[in-house]
Amino acid sequence: MCGIFGIISQQPKNLIKKTLEGLKILEYRGYDSAGIAYNHNKKLNIIKSVGDINELSNKINTQPQIKACIGHTRWATNGAVTTTNSHPHTSFNDEIAVVHNGIIENYQECCDYLNQNNIKLKTPVDTEIIPNILYILRHNKHNIHNFLKGQYVFCSIKLNENKLFLAKKGNLPLYIGKDNNTYYISSDTLALPLTVTHVITLENLDTCEIIGQKLTFYNNTSPITREWKPFNQTFIASDKQGYSTYMEKEINEIPQIATRIMSEYQNTKNIVHIKQKFRNLLKNVKCIHLCGCGTSYHAALLLAKIYEKELKIRTIAHISSELTPTTLLNEPSLAIVISQSGETADTLACMDIIQHHHIPIIALCNVLTSTIAKRSQITFPLLCGPEIAVASTKVFYAAVLVGCLLVQDYDPNIYNKTIQMTQQTLQHARHILPLPPEKPKKIFIIGKGLAYVLALESALKIKEVTYLHCEGYPANELKHGPLSMVDNTTLAIAFGDDTANAVTEIQARGGKVINIPINFENPLAFISQIIPAQIFALDLALSLGLNPDKPRNLAKSVTVL
Ligand code: G6P
Repeated sequence: MCGIFGIISQQPKNLIKKTLEGLKILEYRGYDSAGIAYNHNKKLNIIKSVGDINELSNKINTQPQIKACIGHTRWATNGAVTTTNSHPHTSFNDEIAVVHNGIIENYQECCDYLNQNNIKLKTPVDTEIIPNILYILRHNKHNIHNFLKGQYVFCSIKLNENKLFLAKKGNLPLYIGKDNNTYYISSDTLALPLTVTHVITLENLDTCEIIGQKLTFYNNTSPITREWKPFNQTFIASDKQGYSTYMEKEINEIPQIATRIMSEYQNTKNIVHIKQKFRNLLKNVKCIHLCGCGTSYHAALLLAKIYEKELKIRTIAHISSELTPTTLLNEPSLAIVISQSGETADTLACMDIIQHHHIPIIALCNVLTSTIAKRSQITFPLLCGPEIAVASTKVFYAAVLVGCLLVQDYDPNIYNKTIQMTQQTLQHARHILPLPPEKPKKIFIIGKGLAYVLALESALKIKEVTYLHCEGYPANELKHGPLSMVDNTTLAIAFGDDTANAVTEIQARGGKVINIPINFENPLAFISQIIPAQIFALDLALSLGLNPDKPRNLAKSVTVL
């Protein structure tokens, strides 16, 4: 949620361009507005715009020689999407500019405090209190955490001073990367340039001031040292490998990811070791809690059905934000959290509840440097490489596959057949689930058992990228309510043969039906049957002139509750 990028360098060349490049990679965190701040000509220059980073770039026609720049890409939480409300926000006297990710919970209290100091705010955005409190604190700015409540990270720059000041409270990520003569601040290591060799991860209650080449850290107002960790950037963001969207590229990576996961989960020493550790933990467990949000919740739902059948252990899938302390019974339990980003606030909050009950937490996570990965006893990597498109596709496949491999070793034939079937499903996806000739007004996707969960995930994909009303439903349940909505503007997608009754009921009311045969014989290959729906969602979005990589109102990494 919101991306922060900043640079401070001894080499004052192209710093604005580099900031924009960093922000472009962070766009998955929010893209409704953006802005930058830098010192030039004795002025703290602020440039902001509504829309994505391209819109901001269009407003910037100079590349002055500067030594520091901060930038932000926003996903609005409070305050409408306007240029004024976008970051950076400045102090009342335009002396300090701040870019911020997170929420200041004692906003009202801070406003009252600023009022008492005759400081009036210009926007309804909580961020604006930060530069003003920094102004009041001046030389005591490392004290900032005593004033602000909530979870946040921010980066500030001051008029005529090429210093950056950073602060972090809670779980939100903020990294400092360095190469020869430059420090980069970023919400995600993905945005750090290839030249970066070392990284520091800010910790809860850290503050850091960067002046030239010198970094001064405090934690909870006490001086502290933070170690540089070696870093090797392998990600080249601009590379869509010939595909027109990241979503299409990522769906097309699925067979290769399946091959990688099967090989590494059988052969890589470390993974085999933690897999064994996990199986040992399972031996004493009476209940498994699987947790996740959005697509990761659907992966949890599928795995819950599979585990209950295979392990004969009671397994419950939870939407992370719906888990309450009363859900966790006093019996030997294990929790498995699923997350692509590893930063989802709802899942982190659910981990707090689980940890409070002393239940061991295992993570299935695609970002191993993330907070969820770090806070889990064991983290199983999803081995997908970065997923950029907001709608998760390849990571859904990977999470379910890894989840299956954790509990069982399969015959080599099953592995080979799974890869083969995944390739074939990808190849024939548009034939299996063709786009309808006309845009449907509403879409129902129905299935039973595991196919019902595939229906839920397919519906979510279509909703996310096409903005059409689409619902996944248990096939037999349709007649107990939603059938009232079916008419000749309805498209139904029916997974599997056991939906035949519901299909005839839909057809009898004028609805059009596309049947997708689902084969559950191979215990792993069925996962690939999500691919046609992923491609259907992608194609439908493109046919409606929408950008499937950046659906309106959404963000890939949701770091607010
Ligand atoms: C956001 C994204 C979804 C994603 C969900 C969970 O809402 O838009 O695509 O499924 O977060 O994210 P996670 O990173 O925890 O899997």
